[in-house]
Amino acid sequence: MKRQYITTPIYYVNARPHLGHAYTTIVADALNRFAALTGKQTFFLTGTDEHGDKIVKAAQAAGQTPGEYCDAISAAYQSLWPKLGVAPSAFIRTTDPAHALTVKAALQKVHDAGDIYFGEYGGHYCFGCERFYTEKELQGGVCPDHQTKPEYIAEKNYFFKMSKYQDRLARHIRENPDFIRPAQYRSEVLSILDSGVLEDLCISRPKSRLTWGIELPFDAGYVTYVWFDALLNYVSALGWPDGKNFADFWPSAQHLVAKDILKPHAIFWPTMLMALGLPLYNHLNVHGYWLSRDTKMSKSVGNVVDPEAMAEKYGLAGLRYFLLREMTFGSDASFSEQSLTARFNADLANDLGNLLSRTLTMVHKYCGGAVPAAGEPEAEERAIIELASDALENFHALFGALQFSRALESLWELIRALNKYIDAQAPWTLFKEGRTAKLGLALYTVLEAARKAVVHLVPVMPEAAGAMLVQLGFGPLPKDYDLTDEIGSWGFLPAGASVAASSNQFPRIDATPGAMPEKPAKTAKPCPAAPAPAPCPAPSPAAAQTPAQPATETEGCPEIEFADFQRLDLRVGTVVAAAKVAGADKLLEVLIDIGEGSPRTVVAGIAEFHDPDALVGRQVAMLANLKPRKLRGVVSRGMILAVRREGGLELLSPANPVPSGAKIS
Ligand code: ME8
Ligand code: MG
Repeated sequence: MKRQYITTPIYYVNARPHLGHAYTTIVADALNRFAALTGKQTFFLTGTDEHGDKIVKAAQAAGQTPGEYCDAISAAYQSLWPKLGVAPSAFIRTTDPAHALTVKAALQKVHDAGDIYFGEYGGHYCFGCERFYTEKELQGGVCPDHQTKPEYIAEKNYFFKMSKYQDRLARHIRENPDFIRPAQYRSEVLSILDSGVLEDLCISRPKSRLTWGIELPFDAGYVTYVWFDALLNYVSALGWPDGKNFADFWPSAQHLVAKDILKPHAIFWPTMLMALGLPLYNHLNVHGYWLSRDTKMSKSVGNVVDPEAMAEKYGLAGLRYFLLREMTFGSDASFSEQSLTARFNADLANDLGNLLSRTLTMVHKYCGGAVPAAGEPEAEERAIIELASDALENFHALFGALQFSRALESLWELIRALNKYIDAQAPWTLFKEGRTAKLGLALYTVLEAARKAVVHLVPVMPEAAGAMLVQLGFGPLPKDYDLTDEIGSWGFLPAGASVAASSNQFPRIDATPGAMPEKPAKTAKPCPAAPAPAPCPAPSPAAAQTPAQPATETEGCPEIEFADFQRLDLRVGTVVAAAKVAGADKLLEVLIDIGEGSPRTVVAGIAEFHDPDALVGRQVAMLANLKPRKLRGVVSRGMILAVRREGGLELLSPANPVPSGAKIS
């Protein structure tokens, strides 16, 4: 039995899931579904990483105990996945008691083997990454991922003899070109390994500094370091050492991560496996970043996109298709609603949606709604059959090699060719001329080739592809369906099956900014305006529609000129009245005196955290020259400035009263 074990990173619970997390997990889900549909027995793992300093800090900021806090955020991840069509086999939490036991057993084993020693070390520690950086790895003295200056920490700790395995690891990577892929990341890791002696890995924290972790089995004064704890999730979830899942699935393991955590996965983890006497994983698959406003989308920058909102607005199929089609696996890609809309309209509404709807209509008009007989293919049909075979062969090779974008492009070559084939064959003319044999042949060719393409969309958009297969008269995929049977074959679609009268799977999205798609949107949230190419989101505008994010770190925003700053009319105003906006849970209508004679109306998304009555008399900072905008029927003229933190929203006010309308400069 062929198997596939695929994992995502276990995500830190210091903030809610964003589109970056959704991407990795959707890719894993698509690969998992594809493996299951190509005859493999599969296991797909995701979960949450819950120990360490920054989790404790986030819990404190939210006014919760670390346990309560972890439960809440972990649940947010767990409940998000089904909404994104993601169906993992298991969800692991590092606070699961079984995981803690595994970590202790692993630590004891490595300690017994003599690969853990006690020593003193001083180094540059990034709390965002939860690891030490060497001087060489820092860029201009700051962490390349979080753009923050690491803290110098010197203390006595336990160390794992990572350096002992350096040569063996370098050899393994050289002998297995697919161990780390794509190739640019393999080169990056080899250059680290070749550039000098690896430092040993600090694997503990004294309890005097941190208690939220797993205690070392050989020293109760210490807890284990987050990465030693986190990486072991990949085997503890399979029940290592004795679990059947471990025996069955570990030999087929592959991990999926973004480049931010390349080093822990490419160096810490394989050397840990060597010390534990375990075989290494087969592949580390590394992707780039989703950028938003030209910067890595991240909770600390505050430029995150909410995947659930995107799925509601554009439909799950549209979102998943876009993510897989738009990013070249390994490189960065930019997320914007404009590019999502453009892709959706071009590929899904125009090419695929149109193909389906015109074909089904013709089958009803000319063939009574039943799949016609296959007929005897002529030259044009043989060309389509050949093209379908090539497209599917390419799809299989590319999808398995993580080249999702090119894999989908090859399916779309077929889909576009089918639209052209229809135009060229002109079934409406064949019908008029009474050439029924050719008409039946043409429609069968289109239905069968479209079915072959749509079957391959099942891993990408399971629900929508299933619905399209039903419309095409094929029905939902049987459980043990094997997609490899589709290559080089023709004619699985049975003649006589009834097809749907119409298909409206991907209605065109109106691309004017702020417009909503007619379907499949479920909610009536106001649509945020197209993202401007510009200002840093700090401090967070209170009227923004994004969920609260703790802003604990500052990360790279592009520099602006003083003149850019001068364009902002920032003022202190005094609240004269405030009331809830009817029908909107989060919005308050606030009247603010900024010395203009009559007060301004500002609609602010602060109702969850601020009682309207308590605001009266308070001074707040605001942006006064924001273009007026209508929210829930109320025209808002300006924006109250606030700082988001987990579980709250702090309004900015001067420390001492100032005249209403005082300019902030
Ligand atoms: O690093 N673009 O957790 P984390 C693409 N707990 N992917 C992104 C992304 C972006 N802008 N932002 C995040 C941790 N990701 C550790 C992992 S594993 C044993 C422990 C995705 O919450 C991507 O998969 O910081 C990235 O590697 C991961 O989230 C980091 O998640
Ligand atoms: Mg991170």
